[in-house]
Amino acid sequence: MSKPVVFSGIAPSGNLHIGNYIGAIRHWVKYQDEKDNIFCVVDLHAVTVPQDPRVLKDKTREVAALYLACGIDPQKSRVFIQSHNPDHAQLAWILDCVTPMGWMQRMTQYKDKSVKQKEVITVGLFNYPVLMAADILLYQTNEVPVGDDQKQHVEITRDIAQRFNSKYGEVFTLPEAMIDMSGARIVSLQDPSAKMSKSDPDKKGSVYLLDDPETVGQKVREAVTDSGQEIQTHEEKPAISNLLSIFSALSGKEINSIEEEYQGSSYQKFKQDLSEVVVEFLKPIQRRYREIREDSTYLDNVLQQGSDSLKSVSNKTLRAVQEALGLG
Ligand code: TYM
Repeated sequence: MSKPVVFSGIAPSGNLHIGNYIGAIRHWVKYQDEKDNIFCVVDLHAVTVPQDPRVLKDKTREVAALYLACGIDPQKSRVFIQSHNPDHAQLAWILDCVTPMGWMQRMTQYKDKSVKQKEVITVGLFNYPVLMAADILLYQTNEVPVGDDQKQHVEITRDIAQRFNSKYGEVFTLPEAMIDMSGARIVSLQDPSAKMSKSDPDKKGSVYLLDDPETVGQKVREAVTDSGQEIQTHEEKPAISNLLSIFSALSGKEINSIEEEYQGSSYQKFKQDLSEVVVEFLKPIQRRYREIREDSTYLDNVLQQGSDSLKSVSNKTLRAVQEALGLG
């Protein structure tokens, strides 16, 4: 039996934060041995909103290095940069031509992002989920481990695949979103009604994977809390519930046992211990990250091998698509 194909990615559109780790990367790492893994740095997605070209280039490598520093092992998983494989853009165009406008208009993330966008809203931002569908479908992906905010995009990917298959023949495997509900939506430390986000202009809302210990301490200390004193998960206590999810995900302890441990404790004591948990969790990742960034040949090789080994896979799908459509 061959292993299920897993595909996932992160856009290098800002600093990676603990939400990206908890919602996505930790699941990639956990199941690495059992799956056939493909992890992409989706730089073509980043340019759907304006980017400084030099910053983008550096962030792209930063994200790749962070995948490895968080535990993605290039012996077990293939890591590559999306723009290194032109098949993604080519399949996206074809899928654009089978996707009804109305489907894209329903996408909630587009609605949110277009409201926040101060400059012109591009066709690329609107079409973004089609490019994501192309990423996933090119590799005949079975599973897409993501946070909750990407659920709708994986569902539309299935819809697009089904539409194509029913019109032109069975070319695409239908993928499934893998969402682990604990930690699938880490919220901002400053505003529990909003998710922790790379593009949040309020840097205090997110703990970044490369934040130094002092900054982590300050962000956790200043995190908003709810009224009352109990350290307990409750839908009326979204801020404390969020801090508990972070504590649990990064320490490996069950939420129940953390709640018990802090029964009768103050928010201050809980936050102090949480900041230690986060700092200790980040230390080895940051150490490994620095080593990887110092050895650029190593990172180049990993990325090159990743994209080289995947091109034959994506090309096979693209050829089948072209054949089915009568292109060429
Ligand atoms: P992106 O770059 O916004 O986020 C990367 C991953 O992190 C998860 N995530 C979160 N999880 C929990 N809490 C949060 N606050 C949080 N913020 C982000 C996201 O759900 C995601 O899993 N469109 C995608 C990138 C993409 C992709 C793909 C993903 C492009 N092609 C193909 C999977 C498969 C995105 O913008 O994710």
